[in-house]
Amino acid sequence: MRQAVLRIRPPPSPKRPAMTDANTAPTAPSWRRAWELARPELWASRKTLAFGYLAGLIAVGALLLLPWPLKLIIDQVLSDKAPPAWLLSAREFTEAAGLPLDAVGQVILFSSAYLLIALAVTLAGSAEKMAGARVRERMVLRIRDKILGHIQQLSPGQYAHRRSGDLGLHILVDVQHLVRLLTKTVPLIIRHLLITLFTLGVMFIVEPRLAAAGLLIVVMLALLVRIQGRILRDRSRFKRACEGDVAGFTQECMKGMPTVRALTAEKPVRARFQQINRASLRAGILETAAAVNMERTMQALNGVAVASIMGGGALLVLHGQLTLGDLTVFIAYMVQLLKPVEKINDLASAVSRGLSRAELLSRIIEIPPDMRDGANARTLPSGAGLIQLRDVGYSHDKGETWVLRHIDMLLQPGELTVLTGPSGAGKSTLLQIVCRQLEPALGEIRFDGHAYTELTLASLRSRFAVMLQHHHLFSGPLRDALWLSERPVDEQRLWDALAMVDMSRHVRSLPNGLDTRLEEDAGNFSGGQRARLSLARALLLDRPVLLLDEPLANIDLNSQHIILDALDRIRQGKTCLAISHQAALRQRADQVLWLENGVISKPESATTMEAVI
Ligand SMILES: Nc1ncnc2c1ncn2[C@@H]1O[C@H](COP(=O)(O)OP(=O)(O)OP(=O)(O)O)[C@@H](O)[C@H]1O
Ligand SMILES: [Mg+2]
Repeated sequence: MRQAVLRIRPPPSPKRPAMTDANTAPTAPSWRRAWELARPELWASRKTLAFGYLAGLIAVGALLLLPWPLKLIIDQVLSDKAPPAWLLSAREFTEAAGLPLDAVGQVILFSSAYLLIALAVTLAGSAEKMAGARVRERMVLRIRDKILGHIQQLSPGQYAHRRSGDLGLHILVDVQHLVRLLTKTVPLIIRHLLITLFTLGVMFIVEPRLAAAGLLIVVMLALLVRIQGRILRDRSRFKRACEGDVAGFTQECMKGMPTVRALTAEKPVRARFQQINRASLRAGILETAAAVNMERTMQALNGVAVASIMGGGALLVLHGQLTLGDLTVFIAYMVQLLKPVEKINDLASAVSRGLSRAELLSRIIEIPPDMRDGANARTLPSGAGLIQLRDVGYSHDKGETWVLRHIDMLLQPGELTVLTGPSGAGKSTLLQIVCRQLEPALGEIRFDGHAYTELTLASLRSRFAVMLQHHHLFSGPLRDALWLSERPVDEQRLWDALAMVDMSRHVRSLPNGLDTRLEEDAGNFSGGQRARLSLARALLLDRPVLLLDEPLANIDLNSQHIILDALDRIRQGKTCLAISHQAALRQRADQVLWLENGVISKPESATTMEAVI
């Protein structure tokens, strides 16, 4: 084992900047950002927090009292030292009451006092922990919700450059680190500081020379721990980065399992997996070696510290400058003082981790949504649903290349417009502009004569029922995947929507019907079934404008006809825009538009269109 450790080279660069997204690379960590991020949540939990702090203070006080009953037993009962004034009064009082405080009585008294103090330590400590845990859970939930709510306000271009797993980690793990910093680490640091100050204070009062020696040892130990801790921290960080690689690749392996099998690429994929795992294993051994080293040093130095106080104290006892009881208090306090020192690295790394995560979270929360309600935004009044686009232009890269140029389009209520054109022409982009998920760089769009920019986002977006090209179905019961609303829905409406997309027969044949559980990405349904469920979800919304991106893709001819008949029925009174390459849909359209190279034209003849598609 020793040889194995020696053969392993230390990490080339423990900081691994490549693991971090350039846009999210942490700058100087800042307490201000952490505070600002969590301030409303801390304020909301102020009562529980105050209770926790109070319990913590009681626990600290009781902890400091804990060695004193033993000192009194040693000095007053076992060594027969001159009793302090308060003990003399107590003896007089009990004698007057007919209960003289003899040796046995004193042992019972001091032992009971110890028991009470120990109980106070335990009860106050557990009350502090419970209060902290309650605040933490509540804060994690609220901050996660705040960040998810903020990301929901951003347009896709503002976060699409980040991996979704990375954003997920921010919401899950980073929030926990931040909350732990503010509700656990900071109180713990305050607690340790208080204990250290009080302990040293009492030690200096009882015997200044011994206290000075104790302080010197503690400072030396703290320095050593910091040096060794830095090595451990670097190696831990490297290990975590390696684990991130393993987790990321494992996730890809799981998602890509059918593709890997179909390509018979199991072996090369496993070889890559093993290679990444081996790196993680090496990093783990290095981390353990550093931890073992540090523990060894700590134990040795702890021994030196306690032995020095014990030896020095015993000499002072021999010279009559210290009582035996004082010595026991000193040794107990010394052990107490060493505890925060042992924790100094954990605390330091929790602080730096918490602050850097706060930095990352702030960067997300500080991204201003590029679409938001203007100061004078109005609610869209109910109306027919006439949509007009005038000279609309859109660019994904701030004008370097234009996906859409000079788009003029009129979508009329009661009409079905079919938009078609080559792949990559900008059709899906245009659909997202129409439902105000993307903001055009140029031009103007009006809904029933009202300019989009003058309307509130919520009131405008709530007029559209949309089926996107890359649809997502949430896992869980089918009825919940179809109806994404807090309001309850009549079961018959779900069946009607399923019938419109020719899915009701299949769902009725399933043993659990509408309660059938969808796996992740609806993996237990076929590609065409998934598309039809997604279409049913849009139809269920029953909104004035229906926008469908490739509603007939992957769907057999028979089901296509059922869907087309349903569309004919429901489009009465609705404004419909469908993107499709299917002739069947174009034949039923009131208007067909051709989009190519970002420019719209009306197709000259059906034959030219068939030739191109
Ligand atoms: N987030 C993005 N960032 C940069 N470019 C993008 C982004 N999304 C799409 N594009 C580019 O914009 C162009 C239009 O894409 P869009 O998805 O609108 O095409 P489409 O007409 O719907 O194609 P298809 O028929 O294949 O679905 C494409 O060239 C595409 O590469
Ligand atoms: Mg598309």
